This record gives sequence, structure tokens and C-alpha cells, in this order.
Amino acid sequence: MGVGNPLDVLVIGSGGREHAIAWKLRQSPGVGRLYAAPGNAGTAEIGENLNLRDSDIPGLLGAVRSRGIGLTVVGPEGPLAAGCVDAFRADGRLVFGPTQAAARLESSKAWAKLFMGRHGIPTAKAAAFRTAADAIAHIDRMTESTAVIKADGLAAGKGVVVANSRAEARNAVASVFSGAVPSSAISQVLVEERLTGTEVSVFAFVDGGYASEWVAACDYKRVGDNDTGPNTGGMGAYSPPEFWTQDLARTVRKNILEPVAAGMVSDGSPFTGVLYAGLMLTREGPKVIEFNCRLGDPEAQVILPRLHTDLLEILLAGAEGRLRDVAVDWSGRPHVCVVLASGGYPGKYRTGVEVTGIDRLGAGAVVFHAGTKRDGDRVVTNGGRVLSVVAGGADVGAARAAAYEGVSRIAFEGMIFRRDIAQRAAGRSHRIGLPRPGGS
Ligand code: AMP
Ligand code: GLY
Repeated sequence: MGVGNPLDVLVIGSGGREHAIAWKLRQSPGVGRLYAAPGNAGTAEIGENLNLRDSDIPGLLGAVRSRGIGLTVVGPEGPLAAGCVDAFRADGRLVFGPTQAAARLESSKAWAKLFMGRHGIPTAKAAAFRTAADAIAHIDRMTESTAVIKADGLAAGKGVVVANSRAEARNAVASVFSGAVPSSAISQVLVEERLTGTEVSVFAFVDGGYASEWVAACDYKRVGDNDTGPNTGGMGAYSPPEFWTQDLARTVRKNILEPVAAGMVSDGSPFTGVLYAGLMLTREGPKVIEFNCRLGDPEAQVILPRLHTDLLEILLAGAEGRLRDVAVDWSGRPHVCVVLASGGYPGKYRTGVEVTGIDRLGAGAVVFHAGTKRDGDRVVTNGGRVLSVVAGGADVGAARAAAYEGVSRIAFEGMIFRRDIAQRAAGRSHRIGLPRPGGS
């Protein structure tokens, strides 16, 4: 970039991921005005928030037309699965993200399984059922007593049960069909082989048959320390993982990334956007647990700070179908993200609680907002996951210490966070005294 007129850019979404995308874009000399829809108190500081829901595709397109916004990037899966990219493209707009057909990699777990089967991509064995009775009959016939039960469709993390016994598996099937997960998710259920190993999330920018180098991160889904309590959207992350090697990266590229990109092309629904694979590193090699069709949240908060390449250049090239012209380059510097959440999350929680201390953060850490909004000159909570505190360091221990030092400066009533993010990677020598939640 650097030549020509600056480009005005819209980021769709309102989470920590979208603030991180906007923050990275703000560093690009080629970006003019920066908009977020609907955004949060953090995106409002570096751009302008548009009061439009991320599901309001006609409204978003209208804003892009009337303001002459040159490029749109879609953060969350909802608008992608709803056909946001298709609508923008049909209107001749530059947009970064997969079409509705390509987003099926995430929006239908059953479709993704069939896709992987067709293209020989390693994954857990699974069978799909349309009725509870058929699924339960299958569970009773299985030789293994463990299984993973998954509702088809987008279920915001609520559609998966890892069952330790046949009884648990049967109950999970029953609860899927009884409406315990959102109704859009209940047309089919998958009964899947349970994989064991280390979990890792990997991300690549993909444009048809071309895929950039993967970058890997680990996230923490349970609300409590040592992976206890209910699943959440994500309570923290770090990148790169201590076990991620060049060898592993090559294997994953050859066995998963390249066949996925090529398979989507040959199936007639080429994928453009961020491909996110959740992998289990099993004894037989890496296997796919799930695909997502966008950056992870909170993984985006630890990988975007590692991106050397101008993000605008990548997104624009992707939107124009020439991503292979851009060398995507990641720094090896470890980053750690700790999510600060409202007490009660992922269940019921209060909002409108004043957040203090964001301005007292030193240069060693950055805050990405999620569930926040401005109330006069105060920042108040407006969601379950409120803030992500992110820091880099010479090693993961230093990054972790800096992130938790940042956390210690921030307070709001009822604030909760995990104290063990990246602990296993940092090792004993970096055990540090952690602040008390809610303390200042
Ligand atoms: P998903 O929404 O498909 O990522 O599943 C949520 C979580 O359930 C994953 O992060 C894994 O920890 C776990 N999980 C999903 N599928 C499997 C599987 N086949 N074997 C073991 N664990 C799984
Ligand atoms: N961190 C999990 C996700 O973004 O789906």
C-alpha cells in the first residue's frame, strides 16, 4: 500500500476479535476511515461505530454504499453463514470472508464431515442422524462406550457434549432433540468417535486453492482454572504453542490445509477468508475436530499482534482474489491473552457495571474490548466477556507475566478471569503471584 488514496474499511462484529482486527488495521498506512458495526467502546476509540446489528445485512450494505466504504471484513460466523459476503459481492463490493456455501465448513458439522470424507482429510469417524431413536440405537451398537455428541448447525458452543459413557451419550442426544440447544441446530445430530491428544487451533488466510502459512494458538474454553466449569466462548489464549514445530506445521499443511483448499475449489465452493481448524494431535497424527470460517475469539487477540504483514494488504488481496501475491509473515514472539468476564458468565450476569483502570495499563500490555460500551466518560460492561488483556514477551513466561500485570490494573465489580492461561507453556520457573479477581 502507501500509494493511492486511503481506503475506508468496515469491520463487522463487536467482540474482542473485531477490536483486534480494527487495531491491526489502524496500523496500516493505507486505511482511511475505520468503521465497526456495531463495535464496542474499544473500536469507538480508533474508529466510528455504526449502530447496526451484524445480522442486518441490508443495513450494513446500505452503510457501505452511502459512505463509500472500500472494503468490509466480516468477524463473526453468523453473518457469513447468512450470506453477507454473497450479498456484498452481488452489489460489487469488496469484502473479505467466505460465501455462504463455503461457510458450510462451519455452519454444518454434518456437511463438513461429508466434505472431509470425500477429500480424505483426517477426522474423527462420525455418523449423522435425524431422529433421537436412530442416534440412540447407534450408540447402543457401538463398541466404544465414549462418544462425542454434536448438534448440526451453529450452536454458539452449546451443541457439543463429550460423553464418558453410553448413558451420558444417550442423554446428550435426548437433550439436543428436546430443544436444549438453539432450534436452528436440531435437525441432525452427529455421533462421533472421541479423539484423545493435545488440542490446537490453526489459522490460515485462504483464497481459493491458495493458502498462507498456518499460525497456531491454544485457547481455553472452560470458565474455571484447570479446565473446570462450563464451556464459554473462550477465556484466554496463547500463541505460538510450545509444542508447535516446523514438522507438525508441514504435516498439517500437506494433510489438511492443502486438501481443504483444493477440495472446496473442486466442489465448486471455493473458500476465501480465514480458515480455522480445531485439531486434535492424536497418536495417528493430526485430526480435524471442527472447522470454523473466521478468526477465533480470543485467538485473534494473540495472533494478530504476531502478524508482520500489513493486514489491509492481506484482506484486500483476499477480497480481490490475488492473495498469493502477498507474503504473509508471522513473528515468533509469544503472546498471551487473558479474558476478563462478568461474574456469572457463561450463565446470567449483570451489565452496566463501571470498568476502571484501562487507562492505567503500561506499554507492556494492550486491552481489546468485547462486552463494553461508553456511558458518558465512563466505560461500562455490556456483555459476558468484557475485555481481553494481551501482552507479548521474549518468552511465553514473560508474555504471561506482562498480561497478568495488565490484568492487575483493571477492576470492575464481579470481574472473573482464569489464572492458569499459558501456565503449562510457561513452566515452573515462571510461576507468578496472580492478582485477586475484583482487586485493583
Ligand atoms: P467443537 O465445537 O466441535 O470444537 O467441540 C467443542 C470441544 O469439544 C472441542 O474443543 C473439543 O475439546 C471437544 N471435542 C469435539 N469433538 C471431539 C472429539 N471427536 N473427540 C474429543 N473431543 C472432542
Ligand atoms: N475460540 C473459539 C472460537 O472462536 O470459536
